[in-house]
Amino acid sequence: MNGIKLRGTGSCLPSRILTNGDLARRVDTTDEWITTRTGIRERRVCTGETHSGLCTAAARTALKRAGVTPGEVGVCIVATMTADAVIPSAACTLQKTLGLPADTLCFDLNAACSGFLYALHTMECLLAAAPRKFGLVVGCDVLSRVVDWSDRSTCILFGDGAGAAVVEWRAAWPSIGAVLGCHGNTELLYCPGPGSRDDPYLSMEGQKVFKFALEAVPWCMDRVLERHGLTAEDVDVFVFHQANARIIDLVAKKYRIPAEKYYKNIECRGNTSAASIPIALSELEAAGRLPDGSRALLVGFGGGLTWGGALIEIGRNV
Ligand code: ACO
Repeated sequence: MNGIKLRGTGSCLPSRILTNGDLARRVDTTDEWITTRTGIRERRVCTGETHSGLCTAAARTALKRAGVTPGEVGVCIVATMTADAVIPSAACTLQKTLGLPADTLCFDLNAACSGFLYALHTMECLLAAAPRKFGLVVGCDVLSRVVDWSDRSTCILFGDGAGAAVVEWRAAWPSIGAVLGCHGNTELLYCPGPGSRDDPYLSMEGQKVFKFALEAVPWCMDRVLERHGLTAEDVDVFVFHQANARIIDLVAKKYRIPAEKYYKNIECRGNTSAASIPIALSELEAAGRLPDGSRALLVGFGGGLTWGGALIEIGRNV
């Protein structure tokens, strides 16, 4: 025992919609190719918006829905690889914009598209020792900043956005039972940092990452279900990282998950990296699909290579 429950979620997307047609005017691609291979029709990209602005708006909605004030937050983690600055971190900036107490532990965490799962697990561990038992976990990425807009194999995939979750920790609650992992690899997915002499763009071996995802997602699901002594039928909703509709559909088929029990928004969001799972949670909550006491199984995978899964219960009126 010792665990967190989900109190409330929020999200924020930039206003500019970039359609497949817009991309077909920039690179040698077609709406038909992108839709068939990825399930994506459009994505949001930042024009005037900042990373910090997206994080703040998503966090404010999550706090409001959770009925939690900034003064009650003990730990704030932002999962990201594209913050506005290296210093201050996005989490330190959030401390300022939200007015979190000065003794709130605030830091950024980079596990690419698995960032939200890594952050949830880290949050559960840290809240046990934190001054206040509410935690704010934000996933935000502005991948349009690191995408090579002349590379048709990657620029069609990504979108920008932020998602946030407020969680509560109690000694009597069971753990989310997170499973996490990593295989250091610079060939399959790579994005250089400041100081690197490489081209400053994200590159990916799409097919190999696709195969990795089809192994990582079932591995995470099996381990998480095993840890909780549950089967897939016991889960109320599945939220997978939104990287490719084909990956989600293949996993849903393998586990015979009915359509109403898993979520797909990739058609209009694209792959928003660390934000994809909390954005999906926020949209599910807004649609009334995360009732109190329900259980959500979350699975992320991505650059690193990294992967992670966890089962979180919705605990709004506890
Ligand atoms: N339009 C038209 N043709 C294209 C495009 C495009 N946008 N992109 C590639 N092609 C071509 C290729 O050049 C290739 O042509 P060729 O056969 O003449 O060589 C052909 O289409 C097939 O290319 P593949 O890369 O084999 O296409 P695939 O079916 O694998 O789809 C995709 C590519 C969508 C990237 C897929 O591999 C994928 O989704 N991979 C997983 C991505 C993922 O899960 N990422 C998660 C992590 S992201 C992160 O952590 C930041």
